[in-house]
Amino acid sequence: MKQLNILVIGSGGREHAIVDALSRSPQAAKIYAAPGNAGIARRAECVAIRETEVERLVAFAREREIGLTVVGPEAALAVGVVDAFKAAGLRIFGPTQAAARIESSKEFAKELMTKYDVPTAAFRAFTSYDEARAYVATRPLPTVLKYDGLAAGKGVVIAETMEEADAALRDMLLDDKFGRGKVVVEEFLTGPEFSFMCFVSGERVWPMQLAQDHKRAYDGDKGPNTGGMGAYSPLPFVTAEDERYSLERILKPVARAMVAEGCPFEGVLYGGLMKTPQGIKVIEFNARFGDPETEVVLPRLKSDIVDIFCAVADGGEATLEWDERATLGIVLASKGYPGSYAKGVEIEGLDRVEGCVYHMGTKAEGDRVLTAGGRVLFVVGQGATLAEAREKALADVARIACDNLFHRTDIGHCALDE
Ligand code: AMP
Ligand code: GLY
Repeated sequence: MKQLNILVIGSGGREHAIVDALSRSPQAAKIYAAPGNAGIARRAECVAIRETEVERLVAFAREREIGLTVVGPEAALAVGVVDAFKAAGLRIFGPTQAAARIESSKEFAKELMTKYDVPTAAFRAFTSYDEARAYVATRPLPTVLKYDGLAAGKGVVIAETMEEADAALRDMLLDDKFGRGKVVVEEFLTGPEFSFMCFVSGERVWPMQLAQDHKRAYDGDKGPNTGGMGAYSPLPFVTAEDERYSLERILKPVARAMVAEGCPFEGVLYGGLMKTPQGIKVIEFNARFGDPETEVVLPRLKSDIVDIFCAVADGGEATLEWDERATLGIVLASKGYPGSYAKGVEIEGLDRVEGCVYHMGTKAEGDRVLTAGGRVLFVVGQGATLAEAREKALADVARIACDNLFHRTDIGHCALDE
């Protein structure tokens, strides 16, 4: 068997889970992570190159004879890391800048869905404040406003009143707070959300197991939106028929559409879907592995992930086999997150954990592990049922001691508490 040196770009829990899956492969020789974190450092050599330093990443891959590079974060895709690696003749797993527009431009994604008849919320895009306001005034409330400029971050406002909608439109289109942009005005949909990630290589699509994220900061889905406070897999409320529909009517047609539009997609296509009373619809696409969904999905993958990454990058064949057991993971976040928070607080008890902990934002200082981000750790339980997986995750959370962390205790409530 030929072994490969592998480079993973990124520094979060998602990349830790990718490194973990890679380290189970007999095909992995040496694994590097750029820049990695304190948890990743136990399985891979971390190199001090940031995820957007494209030239340094290319130079490193050449120098260390990297046979496969895997991209985690969107920021690296957006600066064209895949294009640069391909131009240098280096094998890389991830979409080009043009294909990553399915995530980086809401308007591109919405127009593609309209053109290829993929079910999504009705929408219109505006650059003019006056036109956007006039349109919103004719629409029912609440209404959904999504900023679509280059300076991403402001994201999504769900306006309950015309005053809220007006304030958001002013922010997005008049005040130039985020640079000149566009706003997509969308119909408000209701229903449970779920994440459907697929490996995609041109027209070929290999579905992964489903997962659900929890975006709100506090129990009961209260508080501000975050990058995700916990996740679990599988999802009892999504039927086999729902899954088939999502694959045949959404993920596969979008993969074919990207080929038809001249920007074939290679990598992970992530459908953020909602099961509405009118059927399953797309809320958003991402052009990469979800975080924290990846940390509950990849532990269930039994197949060799190197085969899959190479099949996507080279156009080969792959089969995906899954562990039937359920996984449930809980984020430990710095107090104050998603607002401002302290860093550098010591974490103890990691050696007492019985299951698996992925590091999201940590830093090693000698033998000590310190907090270094908003989301800090992701504690995963695995069991025959989701209830057992949650019990194990909560037991491990209790073994970790740190003065400055908080977590949700109700992860999985949609599946467990009703
Ligand atoms: P997005 O960044 O597009 O994923 O939106 C962030 C969150 O806003 C989603 O996870 C949904 O909870 C909510 N959201 C976005 N679009 C809609 C919509 N059309 N209807 C209802 N909720 C939405
Ligand atoms: N968990 C949502 C995301 O990765 O964007």
